[in-house]
Amino acid sequence: MANAPRPLIVGNWKMNGLCEEGRALAHAVVERRKATPRPDADMVLCPPATLLGTVGAILEGSGIFLGAQDCHAEAKGAHTGDVSAPMLADLGCRFVILGHSERRQHHGETNAAVAAKVKAAHAAGLKAIVCIGESKAERNAGKTVEIVEAQLEESLPEMGVSPGNTVIAYEPLWAIGSGKTPSIEEIGTVHERTGALLKELFEPSEPFSILYGGSVTAANAAGILAIPAVNGALVGGASLDAATFCKIAESCG
Ligand code: PGA
Repeated sequence: MANAPRPLIVGNWKMNGLCEEGRALAHAVVERRKATPRPDADMVLCPPATLLGTVGAILEGSGIFLGAQDCHAEAKGAHTGDVSAPMLADLGCRFVILGHSERRQHHGETNAAVAAKVKAAHAAGLKAIVCIGESKAERNAGKTVEIVEAQLEESLPEMGVSPGNTVIAYEPLWAIGSGKTPSIEEIGTVHERTGALLKELFEPSEPFSILYGGSVTAANAAGILAIPAVNGALVGGASLDAATFCKIAESCG
């Protein structure tokens, strides 16, 4: 296996930011990245769909990538309110978060629905960031690895998945927005199992990038990012502050 993937730090703004705030936040991230020694990590900003054009224009030439938070499984058609993967690519997106637990929980997205979206993202040339993670009850029942492995197998299409077009994000539901995180050992175990299963399923020539997400902050990032099987972070709340988000990226390496 080749070396570990280059660290990836993804900011998921969720449903936050009007035009002015979004512009200011993107500018601040770009400025800080220019002003500080280049973090040893790739960075991605995933603003709400309404801000993709605005933020994309600000990121141009900065080396920071643009990503979206969801896409439809079809390329076009009668799907009122939805946005397709080719539309995102057309706006300059390189990444799309898929199967986030908030979409699984509040929009009824099944593993099969996520797999169809991943396929659509790949067809449009987007890199899919596929989220998996157990609930508190599942964790308490000792089912974390079982749940995560099943989600992984069922949320990815059978064909065409490679480290070049797919990133996995392990996000325990109970850790998202709660200020709680699993222990370093627990994160390491899930990431190792995830990496092993991906290897078995897709026989890649290089390792997949596996991010951790759920209450990542500037204070805990270095410890989490130092886990050998962790290749980066998916950051929600802490990505809404430019300095904090950049500090997390600067914790790499
Ligand atoms: P959080 O969210 O960092 O606010 O916990 C992470 C996520 O949901 O992607």
